[in-house]
Amino acid sequence: MTTRAPARASLLDTLLLGVLVLVPAVAQGVALRRPRAVGLAARLDTNSWACRLMTRLRHRHGDGPLLVRVPHRRVLLLLSPQDARIALERTTRTLTAAARDKVAALGHFEPGAVLLSRGSAREDRRRFNEAVLDWPRADHRLCGRFGEVVREEAAGLVGRTTGRGAELTWDEFAGAYRRIVRRVVLGDAAADDERITGLLNELRGDANWFRLHRRRRRLCAELWVRTRDYLGDGSTGGLASCVADAPRTRRTLPVAQAQHWMFAFDAAPIATYLALGLLAGGIPRTDHDYLRACVRESLRLWPTTLAILRDTTANTTWSDGSTTPAGTTVVFHSSYFHRDARVPRADRFEPGRWLDGSADLDWALAPFSRGPAECPGRHLVQFTSATLLAELLAHRPRQVGGPRLDPHGPLPRTADHHVLRFA
Ligand code: HEM
Repeated sequence: MTTRAPARASLLDTLLLGVLVLVPAVAQGVALRRPRAVGLAARLDTNSWACRLMTRLRHRHGDGPLLVRVPHRRVLLLLSPQDARIALERTTRTLTAAARDKVAALGHFEPGAVLLSRGSAREDRRRFNEAVLDWPRADHRLCGRFGEVVREEAAGLVGRTTGRGAELTWDEFAGAYRRIVRRVVLGDAAADDERITGLLNELRGDANWFRLHRRRRRLCAELWVRTRDYLGDGSTGGLASCVADAPRTRRTLPVAQAQHWMFAFDAAPIATYLALGLLAGGIPRTDHDYLRACVRESLRLWPTTLAILRDTTANTTWSDGSTTPAGTTVVFHSSYFHRDARVPRADRFEPGRWLDGSADLDWALAPFSRGPAECPGRHLVQFTSATLLAELLAHRPRQVGGPRLDPHGPLPRTADHHVLRFA
């Protein structure tokens, strides 16, 4: 049987993709955001340029995926929702989530995490993650306690940032959320452990450089030991206290999984703070389901996973009948798919699309990915963020700094959460 290769981008289009898609993503930091680069990207609205370029390529080449001319690599850019679905749905069959670029970056601080694993080790670690995170239940068994943790930290945050002239800034907000993450993941004993967050952030900074930064084994070992100590028998609550009951084998590496939980949770404050910006002007409903949908919608508008990467592990056939061999890197550009013209009112804030289920039908709307590697922490993160939003919105915050995010107006495709301030 003869196979046909996908269409190829011209040299000029490849250069444009490098400048408008790759450079802004890498500059902003794939594992740890660089505030100045995020600010510049927001001022230039780089996602808007990237989306326009990809839409033009799709008009020119059709719906099929596009091979980009990268020396010594086969890189495939997805352009249609059909192919987005193929890539996400066939993960673990003819594609792997453990793409080599992801391993090069995240391997700096969580080698052994499920997202970087293949084959039976992956199955084993996925089973463990699902058990600890109670996937796919909407409410984790410890939701009651996690709700208390969020309310306590919210009260502290409100106490520190209310009164004459006081403002809620990103630094204050992120600091409070970091405490929530440590308590929810590692238990109350970790509430003040800034060192563990500091270690993780240092290594995430290295991860931004992929293989260009040397591995810092001493720091990695310190992070490992510190994390392991919270997972022991004396755990003080949090997900750590669910680890002992979860199925495991020699290959599970619970510590590596816990390190991923802490890293993954860090996207939550960004999405929640931007949602606060959208809701500060007035909110039609305050129930939990609505607020959870607001968090998801904030992530649709400004996805924190800038691109979902896959590597093919076997021949993969795409919607236009073309085929790529094993070893091809496949790129799902989140902002392009989330804001595409086929998405109704793509540039507006409409949490209702997640409540009526219409957004769930569209596989290209994937802030938490989809298919076998879908985020098993999704419900937990929506719960903690919605609980925090409810607490803060009860104090009727007003946005007093940063560009206004008008929920009814067309919203920019790139946002800088660092500059928002509330009174
Ligand atoms: C706003 C916060 C979060 C976002 C936007 C997010 C998003 C994602 C995405 C896009 C993936 C798939 C990546 C890929 O397909 O390559 C993923 C995977 C994963 N996430 Fe999350 N995540 C969040 C929070 C969390 C939290 C809090 C946890 C755990 C406590 C978690 C645990 C995981 C795990 C274990 C995987 C790997 C799944 C697998 O490989 O099978 N995530 N997440």
